[in-house]
Amino acid sequence: MGTLAETKQGKAWYLRVHVEFVCPETGCFPSSFLRSYFWEEEMAKMEVKTSLLDDMIGVGDMVLLEPLNEDSFINNLKKRFDHNEVYTYIGSVVISINPYRPLPIYTPEKVEEYRNRNFYELSPHIFALSDEAYRSLRDQDKDQCILITGESGAGKTEASKLVMSYVAAVCGKGAEVNQVKEQLLQSNPVLEAFGNAKTVRNDNSSRFGKYMDIEFDFKGDPLGGVISNYLLEKSRVVKQPRGERNFHIFYQILSGASEDFLCKLKLERDFSRYNYLGLDSAKVNGVDDAVNFRTVRNAMQIVGFMDHETQSVFEVVAAVLKLGNIEFKPESRVNGLDESKIKDKNELKEICELTGIDQSVLERAFSFRTVEAKQEKVSTTLNVAQAYYARDALAKNLYSRLFSWLVTRINESIKAQTKVRKKVMGVLDIYGFEIFEDNSFEQFIINYCNEKLQQIFIELTLKEEQEEYIREGIEWTHIEYFNNAIICDLIENNQTGILAMLDEECLRPGTVTDDTFLEKLNQVCATHQHFESRMSKCSRFLNDTTLPHSCFRIQHYAGKVMYQVEGFVDKNNDLLYRDLSQAMWKASHSLIKALFPEGNPAKINLKRPPTAGSQFKASVATLMKNLQTKNPNYIRCIKPNDKKAAHIFNDALVCHQIRYLGLLENVRVRRAGYAFRQAYEPCLERYKMLCKQTWPHWRGPARAGVEVLFNELEIPEEEFSFGRSKIFIRNPRTLFKLEDLRKQRLEDLATLIEKIYRGWKCRTRFLLMKKSQIVIAAWFRRYSQQKKYQKIKSSAIIVQSYIRGWKARKLLRELKHQKRCNEAATIIAAYWHGTQVRREYRKFFRANAGRKIYEFTLQRLIQKYFLEMKNKMPSLSPIDKNWPARPYLFLDSTHKELKRIFHLWRCKKYRDQFTDQQKLIYEEKLEASELFKDKKALYPASVGQPFQGAYLEISKNPKYKKLKDAVDEKIIIAEVVNKINRANGKATSRIFLLTKNNVLLADQKSGNIKSEVPLGDVTKVSMSSQNDGFFAVHLKEGSGAAGKGDFLFSSDHLIEMATKLYRTTLSQTKQKLNIEISDEFLVQFRQDKVCVKFIQGSQKNGNIPTCKRKNNRLLEVAVP
Ligand SMILES: Nc1ncnc2c1ncn2[C@@H]1O[C@H](COP(=O)(O)OP(=O)(O)OP(=O)(O)O)[C@@H](O)[C@H]1O
Ligand SMILES: [Mg+2]
Repeated sequence: MGTLAETKQGKAWYLRVHVEFVCPETGCFPSSFLRSYFWEEEMAKMEVKTSLLDDMIGVGDMVLLEPLNEDSFINNLKKRFDHNEVYTYIGSVVISINPYRPLPIYTPEKVEEYRNRNFYELSPHIFALSDEAYRSLRDQDKDQCILITGESGAGKTEASKLVMSYVAAVCGKGAEVNQVKEQLLQSNPVLEAFGNAKTVRNDNSSRFGKYMDIEFDFKGDPLGGVISNYLLEKSRVVKQPRGERNFHIFYQILSGASEDFLCKLKLERDFSRYNYLGLDSAKVNGVDDAVNFRTVRNAMQIVGFMDHETQSVFEVVAAVLKLGNIEFKPESRVNGLDESKIKDKNELKEICELTGIDQSVLERAFSFRTVEAKQEKVSTTLNVAQAYYARDALAKNLYSRLFSWLVTRINESIKAQTKVRKKVMGVLDIYGFEIFEDNSFEQFIINYCNEKLQQIFIELTLKEEQEEYIREGIEWTHIEYFNNAIICDLIENNQTGILAMLDEECLRPGTVTDDTFLEKLNQVCATHQHFESRMSKCSRFLNDTTLPHSCFRIQHYAGKVMYQVEGFVDKNNDLLYRDLSQAMWKASHSLIKALFPEGNPAKINLKRPPTAGSQFKASVATLMKNLQTKNPNYIRCIKPNDKKAAHIFNDALVCHQIRYLGLLENVRVRRAGYAFRQAYEPCLERYKMLCKQTWPHWRGPARAGVEVLFNELEIPEEEFSFGRSKIFIRNPRTLFKLEDLRKQRLEDLATLIEKIYRGWKCRTRFLLMKKSQIVIAAWFRRYSQQKKYQKIKSSAIIVQSYIRGWKARKLLRELKHQKRCNEAATIIAAYWHGTQVRREYRKFFRANAGRKIYEFTLQRLIQKYFLEMKNKMPSLSPIDKNWPARPYLFLDSTHKELKRIFHLWRCKKYRDQFTDQQKLIYEEKLEASELFKDKKALYPASVGQPFQGAYLEISKNPKYKKLKDAVDEKIIIAEVVNKINRANGKATSRIFLLTKNNVLLADQKSGNIKSEVPLGDVTKVSMSSQNDGFFAVHLKEGSGAAGKGDFLFSSDHLIEMATKLYRTTLSQTKQKLNIEISDEFLVQFRQDKVCVKFIQGSQKNGNIPTCKRKNNRLLEVAVP
């Protein structure tokens, strides 16, 4: 408790100046006071920027408000609210007014602005409180809790999210840390979807209490978190007051899920299909359920829900929704008892398919109830009302258990993975104080919780602080405030408290109704000044018509609330028929099965479970205990109007809240109190270094030590008071100054320590180095001597080795020489012996023998060849083609050469026999061969015929005496030829004479010369290539003989005549006669040119070719 009070008061440091010393008339500080009050020039030096005092709209901290009364308080809030300043301080407590519209004051830039800044440095902001809490957690190791209070719709949930997001933004970074942060933050949308609903007061009203411990490591990095949830308002699942909605998730699924997903969940996208969904406000302005559904699914994924888990969760939600559609009808039984029957089993069937429950089991559970007493089971039928009750109880239980499961599942994901000690920051966002038209058990519980929170606020801020001053003997004027402990007692007192009464009533045998409960209350609480009821006879409210008989009223700290007693007993009992829980346990749906462990027949527990009220009371008590171990930070949320509208500031409404929150009293206590207190021992321990007498040790009582210390530091007396066990410091500046001095001194001390340490370190290092140097020097000397010695030694060895080497080499040389001489002698001898031996043995040597045999054989073969050739020689006729066969291949070229030589030799031999006459004949034959061989078909036949030339013996025939006389030259050819007549192609015989210079034609009969042509005028001889004797003699144009034209002859000795004509012409004219061989040539007769054409003729006339005139220009010779 001490820690709580100590720091929390520490923030109102500057207010003291205003509150205590402001002149009532002028509202200013008396200058004399200012001079004495301030710690003179020390204070002047210390410039703490205080935005609270500069450019402030209204007063940023209510402690500075002057004059202080309810009106000025509200006006100040209003003024600030109108200027968008929604936060105002009371010392360290933050008042937050819901702006009901987004303000641009939560940007990342703002986060940076408030990061690591003094609480009062900047204008009031929730970030300043978050920063202060986070830093004191991180730096001073103090666990923190942020208590956010206010009525429904005042902005608690939003505030808690802002705190969390600020802390997430300023604490450590890194992949792992970011994941933790993300999971912590994303748990909010999931829990809000399942635990928040639209009420008449708030479109996003938390219908459960939430306390989240965020855990940090020593560096201030988040490790994880633990969420505790408090009593979900589960009655909302089955029924919602007018103008309100069921939990958001139902609407979100129906609006946002895909058709496919809805089909899987057997749902339809129509709110009106479901009895559990209030229709009058199914749509909330500015809320997009479809988008929110996607956000929730995404958040579930980030938090770590597996796909199948998410699916199961939505299946349960769908099952709850569908349960509402099951309807019952009465059916009379034979025994006269009423029984209920399900009207339409379709819905039941689908629920069973969704949840994997046997339809008959569930159906039975809706129709019967089994009661076990003393090992006996009695089954009774349920009437329609009971069946509806059972159905709703099941729906409520399913949903609320699902919600608790979600919290446990999220905790599993976000729990810190390490076991190291953690620093904890708790954020409490609980349902706000509620006053509805019809207030039931839930409102009673919610308001009780708010009473407890108010109580803790009072305890820690008002009561405890004031009591401490008195305890410590500090002069103090008591400030009145309303302590709501009396209301808490009315509700939670173990004997006479309303909750205890309710429990007693629920456990009591006999008929128990809400009325009997109210009766009991009237008996026990009638005299309580905060309890009002018309039932009791002596009631002060007998005539109060505003208080119906079935109600009781409690004067809460925040106002009077009238509770309808109806449903209190049931809701407190929270009864779910065992048949239903057993049916659920039998589900094949693993999540549903897990939600109803008590349905396991093996674990039947006949003991009544604790009532809802007592459970809640216990959990609130634990929460309060938990909060008290932490350093509290308060955010008091205020709702400016009832319309959820921006810019509207309802003075009366705000005034009411200020009153019941005790904010004015809070300011008064703050103003009168001291900023800081601390027990003497820790104070001395912390600041003893600032004074020589107390440093390093003070031997005496701590208080005396602190006195000496403060005297030494010359702190003005007004600045502090000595309590019994603590020193009280009035002004935070004094504390800041002390802290600054301490910091300075610590720096000096650190420098001193560093100096001494460095000196010691240098000295030790020097000594070490000196010692090392000696060791090194010794080692080095030894080493260098060793080196020197080794060098000398190795030099001696080298010299020695050189000499030895030289000697050895000399000896070696000699030995080598000697050896070489010996070897040479040996080699010479060996060669000599070898030669001798080889010579001796050469004849027997095989290699030689082979060659010899080869050569011998070769010689023998050649010899044999020649000998055989001699006998096989062919005849000496040059035309003999015979030649002996080649006997051996290796003699092939020799054989051919021999054949050639032999042939040449025998040709020579043959030629040598010739006479000149013969030679001439052969020359002519040779000439003929060159001219006609392979050109003229007649040629081969001519080869065997000797060329006789003078076939006609002119000289001997007297008939040709005249002719002989006319020709005085030597006749080379004398022959009868047929001259072809050009007119008809008929032949006329003529004597053809060739002399040395002329060709003569004479009449065969008379011997008269018909024509004489000098050889020089013969230009060409034409003939065919065929086997005929026709030939044309062409004469030079213009010559004397050419008058009658060319001659066409036919002769039996064509080859001989042509050859001789050619030779004679050549020898006489030295020009080669042109011999044309062609089967078609032109002959000039007088002026005409006639074509002589040789064709293949028939053999009609034997082998004689026939000539025929075809036309003027063509003579055709048919050659058979
Ligand atoms: N700082 C803010 N800035 C803007 N709007 C705000 C702020 N705080 C609250 N609101 C608006 O007020 C509404 C109600 O706030 P919130 O849900 O936090 O109230 P609550 O105190 O948690 O109520 P309940 O007790 O019913 O849960 C929010 O939905 C939001 O519209
Ligand atoms: Mg809320």
